[in-house]
Amino acid sequence: MKRRLYQGTDFRRAQNIDELRAVARRRVPNFCFEYVEGGSDDEVTLKRNRSVFEEIAFVPRTLVDVSKRSQTIELFGKPSAAPFMIGPTGFSGLLTHEGDLALARAAAAAGIPYVLSNASTMRLEELVSRAGGRVWMQLYLYRTRAFAKALVERMKALDIEALVVTTDSAIFGNREWDRRNYARPLTLTLRNKLDVLMHPRWIFDVLVPHGVPHFANLGDLLKPGQDSVRGAASAIADELDASLNWADIRWLRDLWPGKLIVKGVMTVEDAETAVACGADGIVLSNHGGRQLDGAISSMEILPEVAAAVGGRLTVMLDGGFRRGSDIVKARALGADAVLLGRATTYGLAAGGEAGVVRAIDILKTEVDRVVGLLGCSDLSQLDTSYLRWPGHLPVPAPQGNPAARAPRIELSKQKEAQS
Ligand SMILES: Cc1cc2nc3c(=O)[nH]c(=O)nc-3n(C[C@H](O)[C@H](O)[C@H](O)COP(=O)(O)O)c2cc1C
Repeated sequence: MKRRLYQGTDFRRAQNIDELRAVARRRVPNFCFEYVEGGSDDEVTLKRNRSVFEEIAFVPRTLVDVSKRSQTIELFGKPSAAPFMIGPTGFSGLLTHEGDLALARAAAAAGIPYVLSNASTMRLEELVSRAGGRVWMQLYLYRTRAFAKALVERMKALDIEALVVTTDSAIFGNREWDRRNYARPLTLTLRNKLDVLMHPRWIFDVLVPHGVPHFANLGDLLKPGQDSVRGAASAIADELDASLNWADIRWLRDLWPGKLIVKGVMTVEDAETAVACGADGIVLSNHGGRQLDGAISSMEILPEVAAAVGGRLTVMLDGGFRRGSDIVKARALGADAVLLGRATTYGLAAGGEAGVVRAIDILKTEVDRVVGLLGCSDLSQLDTSYLRWPGHLPVPAPQGNPAARAPRIELSKQKEAQS
């Protein structure tokens, strides 16, 4: 019999994130799936974000007692139950009703942070009151800077811990695959309209009872009635500000007293500038291959960035993380934590909140297994000596295994005593 992945629509049957993705593809209309899935231009960066993980091999230790294991980390002085969190993804309400809330609740239940997108379909205030947990807020700096000011005030009132400012989208990426689903802006092709009709479950979850979701968080930016997709799309396009620069980050730093995280850094120089601007953290990110196609992957620049600024600010990254082993590799290269984009969004599309819980559970289980198989009992023990990455990491001189040496000495002593 030919090997094949699970062919159904029950997310509980998914063994891994890739299988959740396949379930998601069947559960939501093509145009929704493509909104999540696609990258920009030829999707070279999208592919690179995944292929990089295959270049990095593990170098496990053996015969180490790993019967007690933990994957808890510390993030900004507080414990977090896993080395990953849910990153910002806009318009999640398109995939399931109240998609942002489902993501936030699953993150809260798992004890990990959730970053609400600026382009969310639920307002920050409502999400915080209904989800609980550790909610961070993502911001795009629009031309109308009063929007950022107002958002910062709202965040202060809610005692939000961290503001994530995304810096890679001042010019919108060229997402051709997404556009191909539309005959003209915001009007689906006939083929896609027919495809929607093949998804009654989605129609009765998202479309019929509630209508096309709105950009609930952009209220202060959009004129009355503009928060519909059509209104917002043109307003946001006008609001994108290609003049964005580091002075704006300094301005934001003065405005916002909480943790400030710059998302979209991709060089050591920019990471140093983020430190100089008083940022508390950075996210190395190419926006999941949705912005500059041909850009390097975050994993490739992580070692040099972690070496340069690690310890001076929190180093996080995203892009292509689909396996616990990917996350463990990032930790071994010096990352503090990983942000998930599509991995949990697939869970959302495949099964709502329970689907996100499943995605997190899969990744937590995988991280735990991989850490144990490497011969570690917690993530702080990981370093580059657990990896081989030709062309990127020097091959270390042989050192022996301290954990394995100790019992060998005792064995030889036992033999001496016996003789
Ligand atoms: C559907 C979708 C929507 C996104 N929306 C946002 C957003 O509103 N703000 C933002 O900073 N990044 C956004 N991103 C980028 C993600 O935060 C993250 O950088 C990227 O998804 C990571 O790559 P991965 O999906 O391969 O994990 C979005 C990504 C996707 C897939």
